[in-house]
Amino acid sequence: MQTLHEIAPLRETLREHRMAGRRIALVPTMGNLHEGHLALVDRARQLADVVVATLFVNPLQFGAGEDFGQYPRTLESDRDQLTAHGCDLLFAPSVETLYPRGLATQTQVHVPDVSEGLCGGSRIGHFDGVATVVSLLFHLVQPDIACFGEKDFQQLAVIRKLVADLHFPIEIVGVPIVRAADGLALSSRNGYLTPDQRALAPVLQQTLARCREALSRGQPPSAALHEASQALQEAGFRLDYLELRGQDLSPFELGGDTQAQLLAAVYLGSTRLIDNVAVALPSTGADRRHG
Ligand code: PAF
Repeated sequence: MQTLHEIAPLRETLREHRMAGRRIALVPTMGNLHEGHLALVDRARQLADVVVATLFVNPLQFGAGEDFGQYPRTLESDRDQLTAHGCDLLFAPSVETLYPRGLATQTQVHVPDVSEGLCGGSRIGHFDGVATVVSLLFHLVQPDIACFGEKDFQQLAVIRKLVADLHFPIEIVGVPIVRAADGLALSSRNGYLTPDQRALAPVLQQTLARCREALSRGQPPSAALHEASQALQEAGFRLDYLELRGQDLSPFELGGDTQAQLLAAVYLGSTRLIDNVAVALPSTGADRRHG
């Protein structure tokens, strides 16, 4: 696997692949790779001739007081894992390479509507940072396909809208959540958890699964979400949000939508965990709205 840190050789290498008619897949990451990232690489490998991963801890998507400084940087082991999974090229630029004129005056991309609320409500500016760096990477790599994990469900929706609104000729592929044996969704941030917090963390997924079952049996969303919120807080989580939305993240309409997404963000100490599950609801014919 080739590793490049600068834009000019990246462009030159990819130009050659494009001239040879090869299909290019992009897997953007912030590194500290786990099986969830590697599932993205495996999917990209199935869909394209050339797999490009990027590793960049993007300062623009971290708020003041968030974990930008603490975020694990593990280039060597990331390289080994990418190589083992058949990645062809790793682009790992510095902050100065991607944002040479500094962060304060960097042109940014805002994706309205779908960026508001949920994670966008508590992490102000986060999705502008994501949309900006992903747009930059799309311009530099010009992939045919780009793979993103469904754990960051809102991020995936933001990127799908970004691609549609800006007419990027890129197919966005969502890849299902990869979970530990006890159900916890894999995340680089799981490494911040103490042993006690790690033992508690799977209760998030278990609570979402119980809430999904209750909703599928026809329990009204307000009651099912109230019970799940109580259960999470009694277990020791601090709740950021627990919401039922349409699968495009529009407000969920009971009686209209039978497919929905249940999404949660919680804190264990200062570590923020997110998760989500798809929910199939019985068709009620009722015309009630649930935000
Ligand atoms: O999901 C992530 O790891 C990041 O948000 C991404 C898409 C690589 C942009 O920095």
